[in-house]
Amino acid sequence: VPVGTNLLDAARQAGVELVAICGGEGICGECMIRPTAGSLSAPTLTEKAELAANDLAAGFRLACQAQVVGDVRIEIPPTSLTTPQRLQTEGQDAPDDFDPPLFVLDLQVDPPGLDDLRSDESRLRSALAKNRHPRITIERKVLAILPAILRQSAPDYRLRLVIRRNTETEHETKSLAAVLPANTKIYGLAVDVGTTKLAAYLVDLENGTTAARAGAMNPQISYGEDVISRIAYTNSHPDGAKTLQNSLVNSLNNLLDELCTEIDAGQPQIVEAVIVGNTCMHHLFAGLPVAQLGTAPYVAAVSDALLFPASDVGLKLSAGALVYMPPNIAGYVGADHIAMLIGARLKNPSQTTIALDIGTNTEISLFHNNLHWSCSCASGPAFEGAHITDGMRAAAGAIERLQIHGTEVQIKTISEQPATGICGSGILDTIAELRRHGLIDHRGVLKGQHPNLFLQKEKGGPHSAFILASADKTAIGRDIKVTRLDINEIQLAKAAIRTGVETLLSEAKITAEDIDTFLVAGAFGTYLDLDSAIRIGMFPDIGREKYEQIGNAAGSGARAMLVSLKQRQFAEQISLSVNYVELATNPAFHKLYIGSLAFP
Ligand code: FES
Repeated sequence: VPVGTNLLDAARQAGVELVAICGGEGICGECMIRPTAGSLSAPTLTEKAELAANDLAAGFRLACQAQVVGDVRIEIPPTSLTTPQRLQTEGQDAPDDFDPPLFVLDLQVDPPGLDDLRSDESRLRSALAKNRHPRITIERKVLAILPAILRQSAPDYRLRLVIRRNTETEHETKSLAAVLPANTKIYGLAVDVGTTKLAAYLVDLENGTTAARAGAMNPQISYGEDVISRIAYTNSHPDGAKTLQNSLVNSLNNLLDELCTEIDAGQPQIVEAVIVGNTCMHHLFAGLPVAQLGTAPYVAAVSDALLFPASDVGLKLSAGALVYMPPNIAGYVGADHIAMLIGARLKNPSQTTIALDIGTNTEISLFHNNLHWSCSCASGPAFEGAHITDGMRAAAGAIERLQIHGTEVQIKTISEQPATGICGSGILDTIAELRRHGLIDHRGVLKGQHPNLFLQKEKGGPHSAFILASADKTAIGRDIKVTRLDINEIQLAKAAIRTGVETLLSEAKITAEDIDTFLVAGAFGTYLDLDSAIRIGMFPDIGREKYEQIGNAAGSGARAMLVSLKQRQFAEQISLSVNYVELATNPAFHKLYIGSLAFP
């Protein structure tokens, strides 16, 4: 890299994913590295303010601030690397509404010869006419591959055509989406692009079943952990949006390779894609501007569904493949929420139903009396482990379950590995257990007597902390604990979610008692303990049987839209009929939020 490049950018170019929660602003302190040979630019004032004195003295630097001045060798502590996370690709399988936008037509074409000098296109059109499809549009990109496929099919010249039903106008038209050798299976790609994770599926387009699935981290994470820091990155770098789009598309192409290898298929067999994501991920993938999502009033550039050639964004599918992206509801309720509702099969539910997907932003829908309300609340990244002293994502070694029995604290870690930190479901359990044993009060203050409870110095004065695993039992050589500040972070997050639920209930003029079904989607939503979530007041205390954890419903919804035009129409109806509730301007919001901060 040229002299003057900061090490965060250098790492990105090398494909090394450093944790960069603030997107390189120098304020999160997560991107610590240390030179072991050569030197770097002098520590900046930002680094001196952000790094602890002993870390600075030990030579640690912030990668986003330190610049290359010549050859240098860098040590990256494991805590500065993004870790592979437990990914959620499950969810309900094939839709019951099979109504595919594409179908196959097997036919035989007249062989070319000195006595038949028609072009390959004419030859194909006459075969189509004989098969009762005289008026089919043929894309130039498909025509470009026709001669090669036709000659591969000699001597019998049997082909498999993939025909697209175009329903955007009143009269359905048809176009040729792909030409393949006879007996070739066709697949579609469905992807749920989360801010943190990607879940990708290959779906057999002839029967709607899922043929392969895979998950990966969203590579944009090294440009900022949340939506706001990625928008900031695009604002401060002239090619920032393109860089983020390319990193995502490259990762999707790699995932596609992996999926194709698993089922022994080739990319020409992938003839359609459905991509869903929150509004920011949607816009970054589609090449739409995101700056306006970062400033009030936070509006989307586009809300209607999109259908465009996969090649426009560099996605390596078949030559004529299109990408369908369902509509966005608002700047912070995106196509992934619509996909979640479809995946949860919430088509005009007759029961009063809440459906939510917990993430950095939590999107919530309420269905009641044939009406539908939705909102988004800023629940923050605490459940992803961010801003928590020993927080980490749901990766191997994370404490995911915890129980307190008298003086004993029992923990369970992911993959049964020695503990390295605590993830969202573990934090939730910890606080619920501390509350159950009277070790925190309703305001979140640690109190009472327990051998694991002690006073420690924190920014802003001494605070209590509770040890979950002592240094001799962890993989990091020190205690893993929760502090008063960690409890506050969770209070803010759970209050945001509960306020979103209560605000929608108040819009519908009902109470939690009226809820018949409460659906919790997403990875964190799948692994969290419902009793803990109810105990800390994140979810209302209604009959436990009303709750259902439904896995990655957004991924299921994306798959459903891949094989069902009816589901695409349903997605478009949802976006037109939903009542979007903006919490920031809602008169009930402030009071409800304050009321939700305390623990029950
Ligand atoms: S401090 Fe460097 S990325 Fe946040």
